[in-house]
Amino acid sequence: VTTDISVRLGPLRLRNPVITASGTFGYGVEYAELMDVSRLGGISVKGISLAPRKGNPPPRICETPCGMLNSIGLANIGYDAFVGQTLPRLRELGATVIVNTYGTSADEFAELARRFDSVQGVAALEVNISCPNVKQGGIHFGVAPEPAAAVTRAVRAATRLPVIVKLSPEAADLVGVARAVADAGADAISLINTIRGMSIDVETRRPRLGAGIGGLSGPAIRPIAVRMVYEVHRAVGVPLIGIGGIAGLRDALEFFLAGASAVQVGSASYTNPRTALDLVEALERYCEERRITPAELVGAVVSGD
Ligand code: SIN
Repeated sequence: VTTDISVRLGPLRLRNPVITASGTFGYGVEYAELMDVSRLGGISVKGISLAPRKGNPPPRICETPCGMLNSIGLANIGYDAFVGQTLPRLRELGATVIVNTYGTSADEFAELARRFDSVQGVAALEVNISCPNVKQGGIHFGVAPEPAAAVTRAVRAATRLPVIVKLSPEAADLVGVARAVADAGADAISLINTIRGMSIDVETRRPRLGAGIGGLSGPAIRPIAVRMVYEVHRAVGVPLIGIGGIAGLRDALEFFLAGASAVQVGSASYTNPRTALDLVEALERYCEERRITPAELVGAVVSGD
């Protein structure tokens, strides 16, 4: 018998608090040959828009010290292909599916939410108002309380599914944005998305990403993310999902102690696709040895200031 490390995030119950982060684990189905994806707490799939998107010019990813830059531009197969082909396969695999959504307006976000509301096999929606790589939507909604709240309200009104809103570290007043989306009806908040960065090839003198600028992820941003989870947890009552350079148990524990009720594993899945599942097993052992539940760790940092 394995230790029960299930968690509750408002209306969303997960078998464990380890989710694969959107964009770093495809649509989940690609990993089914490598592992039993039903053992993950959840899979947040690559952001889905109403219509398919080609995304940004290559190269779309480059390595940097302790992290990586991406500018994918939310390339995805679109709602119809996802629901028609991918979602049935995810259901067969027993995966807990969190659908990350992307729209260029509050209405588009609401339309996606309405459609997913009547589809089987979706555990929750993650509303992406924090992508730095698109001209419309994305981070433009996420950096100020008003537009962030407007998108959240529109989604909330369109679905009974649990709504997670994914925030950007680039908001001038992150706590203000978090409060606004919580007041607008978000069931949970995930944070942080990437931080804009740039890398230049000094031989060619060209940016190493086709789009020039991209989003930085990986261990380089972990302390920033831990600090932001800590600050938002102290100010806002909704459950938090911590994201930012999590590659193992100690990293995840930092996020729980700072105030996260669950975590997402992102870039680390590129170096080892089993990172999230290894983390599930490590957390089970940790909780068993110490006879505690993940919930007891949430916000249990002894002193922050
Ligand atoms: C991308 O597709 O460009 C990344 C998505 C994101 O950062 O939200």
